[in-house]
Amino acid sequence: MPPLKLILVAGARPNFMKIAPVIHAIRRHNESGPERPIECRLVHTGQHYDEKMSDVFFRELGIPQPDDHLEVGSGSHAVQTANIMLKFEPVCLREKPDWVVVVGDVNSTVACTLVAAKLHIPVAHIEAGLRSRDRGMPEEINRLVTDAVADLLLTPSPDGDDNLRAEGVPDEKIRLVGNVMIDSLVAKLPQADACDTLGRLRLEAGRFVYVTLHRPSNVDTPESLGIIVRELKQLSKERTVVFPIHPRTRARLGEFGLDLDDCPKVRLLEPLGYLDSLNLTRHARFLLTDSGGLQEESTYFRTPCLTLRPNTERPVTVELGSNKLTTVETLAGDIAELLAKPERLGEIPPLWEGRAAERIVAELLAASPAPEPELAGAR
Ligand code: UD1
Repeated sequence: MPPLKLILVAGARPNFMKIAPVIHAIRRHNESGPERPIECRLVHTGQHYDEKMSDVFFRELGIPQPDDHLEVGSGSHAVQTANIMLKFEPVCLREKPDWVVVVGDVNSTVACTLVAAKLHIPVAHIEAGLRSRDRGMPEEINRLVTDAVADLLLTPSPDGDDNLRAEGVPDEKIRLVGNVMIDSLVAKLPQADACDTLGRLRLEAGRFVYVTLHRPSNVDTPESLGIIVRELKQLSKERTVVFPIHPRTRARLGEFGLDLDDCPKVRLLEPLGYLDSLNLTRHARFLLTDSGGLQEESTYFRTPCLTLRPNTERPVTVELGSNKLTTVETLAGDIAELLAKPERLGEIPPLWEGRAAERIVAELLAASPAPEPELAGAR
């Protein structure tokens, strides 16, 4: 049988830990001598492009060099999304894949979905169905649009299925496959263990707070970022604060004339690679974050997490996991409450065990009818 031909799209930092397991599962599938092999072409849109936002993840996660690099770079949402569309369309026209596979909720996800859907190429969305119900978040728009036109919706948890059904998506398009990001975590734990992050940063397990903040709603206004800086200074009186700074946040601190330089117990770092971040998440006393991925990774390690957002598209991390939503107003009280609780909280949600990518590959094959013999030769 001719191979099933996929284009797999990645563009920004949180995509890379979601595509790596899929690439590895496809390789294992092909090595097993299958009836239908899979030919996979990796497209990097270049939405993120710095060594620390992109290359380090390719290396640490064993992702092969992209077959196509669109090199779109930064820009406003319209500029970035449009540039990705302009550059992705010729790739689709040239390659004529059976599926375009997208992950997550970044601008690359929605841009490539729109291109494929209009070329009548089926789209599979990994991490479908998540909803914050906050359309002020650019990612929520990306999720809604992607899921509205995708053909196969691969969800990480049952709330995703419920959200899609409530939006009228028929059951036959929805498949609960589990959390593919946890596949990367499980696979890379031994390597993370071996890389001595705590020793290098002179940190003691359970005695520091791991902070990441980059959402526009938190960092793009002087009022909000000013309050966050004040709270971090307060927090650093009690604990060492480890704060790898996203380029957006670093730029805003400069623009607003804010700094944390007079706080020796706030460790401002460059963005961290995957393995270091896993170690900090595993060994922190707690996390303070607005990242989607860290809410899930801390849930896996059962490390308490305070999410500085009014909502989350990952409610399972609050209902079952170790996550709690917080605000700058309630932060001090939430920290005190958290420190009175055990050092490990919650439980790991079902299907967050490291085998989601296998299920994704199986679902893609199952959703792909074998080509008619006479059409197969025409490709
Ligand atoms: C994007 C995603 C967000 C994700 C985040 C993770 C969208 C809408 N947002 O937000 O969902 O949580 O990535 O990081 O897709 N920059 C660099 N180097 C880079 C990339 C960006 O310096 O490699 C700087 C640029 O100045 C850019 C700014 O960071 O303007 C923001 O990058 P951008 O991709 O626009 O959005 P993020 O905030 O990273």
